Amino acid sequence: MLNTAHLRIHFSARITAFRTPKLVSPTLPSKVAARCSHHAAHYDGPSPTIAVIGSGPAGFYTAQKVMREIKGTKVDMYEQLPVPFGLVRFGVAPDHPEVKNCQDTFGDVAASPEYTFIGNVNLGHDLPLPLLAKHYDAIVFAYGASKDRKLGLEGEDKPHIYSARAFVGWYNGLPEYRNLNPDLTAGETAVVVGQGNVALDVARTLLSKLEHLNKTDITEYAIQALSRSTIKHVHVVGRRGPMQAAFTIKELRELLQLDDVNFKPVPDELFPKDLKSLPRPRRRLMELLKKGSPTKENASKSWSLDFLLSPQSLTWSSSESDKLEGVMFSKTRLEQPDSPESKVTNTDERQLISTSTLFRSIGYKSEAIPGMQELGADFDERNGTIRHDGIGRVVSLDTRKGDKASLYCSGWVKRGPTGVIASTMTDAFQTAEAIVEDWKKTFDSPRPSRGGWKGVQADAQALKLPLRPVHWSNWQNIDQVEKAVGAERGKPREKFGDVDEMLKASGVSD
Ligand SMILES: Cc1cc2nc3c(=O)[nH]c(=O)nc-3n(C[C@H](O)[C@H](O)[C@H](O)COP(=O)(O)OP(=O)(O)OC[C@H]3O[C@@H](n4cnc5c(N)ncnc54)[C@H](O)[C@@H]3O)c2cc1C
Ligand SMILES: NC(=O)c1ccc[n+]([C@@H]2O[C@H](COP(=O)([O-])OP(=O)(O)OC[C@H]3O[C@@H](n4cnc5c(N)ncnc54)[C@H](OP(=O)(O)O)[C@@H]3O)[C@@H](O)[C@H]2O)c1
Repeated sequence: MLNTAHLRIHFSARITAFRTPKLVSPTLPSKVAARCSHHAAHYDGPSPTIAVIGSGPAGFYTAQKVMREIKGTKVDMYEQLPVPFGLVRFGVAPDHPEVKNCQDTFGDVAASPEYTFIGNVNLGHDLPLPLLAKHYDAIVFAYGASKDRKLGLEGEDKPHIYSARAFVGWYNGLPEYRNLNPDLTAGETAVVVGQGNVALDVARTLLSKLEHLNKTDITEYAIQALSRSTIKHVHVVGRRGPMQAAFTIKELRELLQLDDVNFKPVPDELFPKDLKSLPRPRRRLMELLKKGSPTKENASKSWSLDFLLSPQSLTWSSSESDKLEGVMFSKTRLEQPDSPESKVTNTDERQLISTSTLFRSIGYKSEAIPGMQELGADFDERNGTIRHDGIGRVVSLDTRKGDKASLYCSGWVKRGPTGVIASTMTDAFQTAEAIVEDWKKTFDSPRPSRGGWKGVQADAQALKLPLRPVHWSNWQNIDQVEKAVGAERGKPREKFGDVDEMLKASGVSD
């Protein structure tokens, strides 16, 4: 087993091959100056050329900080889709436009002449990852979580069962799910398994009035499908209790305040006896849950939070084997009901919730990119994260030569698929600090000059790889068309849900 100290020593040993700097102070010997400049606010040495894989918050915030700290840093940001921003575009709920303001900051980063957006290039598939190594000083894995966790129930892939990732991606225009076409007309009840904020996004979308959603950037085809929906009640089901729920107060309040939607009160006995002694955020959440929402006369829809239920099996119609009829849950018992960290065990008692439609919302999942291991990155399959030193330096046991890039990770692929944009930013800044620190510490050793995207492109051409990169100006073309079509429909934008349509609008030639 390697400990962190070991890994650090190993890491700094392998990154001693950076380029010779221009020193901040010409009077100091290079090594001393290097040490001083490491702590100095102003650094005037050479700058690295960095590949960032992924254009979500982790990629942009890492790029922003390194570019700020080391003037002249070149960032080539690779993105598998022709459009940037990751989950800010394809995850964040359409009725949360204010959350998407971070895109302005990302636009400022992209406006730098040192920044290049290389969209429509899926690293590890369109372009072999190891090909990047000799063209960059550092590679940052910031590619998020492109899969989701499964319940492991038999029949989970049958019709009318959707992952929240697919459903959210579908209503937000993610090309992968353009053809999901969820049938929301199978019955009047839906079950969402999981009690995180994504589960509440799914429930809110199913229950919101269309005249409210119509004004958002939700896709037109989603509006059409939602307008046909027959779903009237949504159960949001958790295996633990209110004290362990993963959702946050703002998202709960939004659901409680929905027009024309009632909330089924949570049984009193599920709350801790003494709410006053709880830390303030949990206390406020419990108080709001306990209060619920006043019953709205003649409300046409409703929802409930169903606690202490763990899914065991799916039940099917006796006449149609693919027709979902319900989810059988095991009632659970908490070891310490008042502790947010409480463990839970299943009991023998069962509870059936009849439903025609099921959404699983139990978390996203990252995967390794093909070629990572060849570069020295180690993917932890169990946790779905890249192994690193705790800060974002990627662990490797190989002895590095001067023609290899250092490796870092940032965001959900580093920490796992939890955390809001603000925490992803903090995490990305930490990775950026590691990059800056390593660069400044070791810049006095010679290192081959790096060609960045130009070098990669030349190699790709030699290998006859059919790349069709989308650059920032091409994205701006897509952006303009989306906004113009949206304006005609009274919404901020109408997203393209198809890569070919995006490419057409981008102005990129065939
Ligand atoms: C449904 C949902 C709603 C959310 N709502 C909110 C909210 O309202 N407020 C909030 O603060 N936070 C919200 N979050 C959390 C927030 O979105 C995340 O914290 C953040 O997006 C994580 O950033 P990331 O850069 O690590 O990953 P991502 O945002 O997923 O970005 C990763 C990028 O990498 C790209 N990529 C993947 N593989 C490759 C490859 N092989 N080659 C090239 N590119 C690749 C992806 O296409 C993507 O663009 C939400 C999350 C979800 C799932
Ligand atoms: N508006 C916003 O700010 C917003 C919106 C959406 C998402 N986000 C953020 O994005 C991140 C991801 O959200 P998320 O909702 O996908 O994940 P999450 O917050 O981790 O919630 C996952 C939920 O799934 C449950 N779960 C996990 N495995 C299960 C299983 N096998 N059986 C039953 N239940 C299971 C968890 O219960 P246990 O706790 O018992 O494991 C938990 O309730 C979060 O940090 C979230 O806050 C923020």
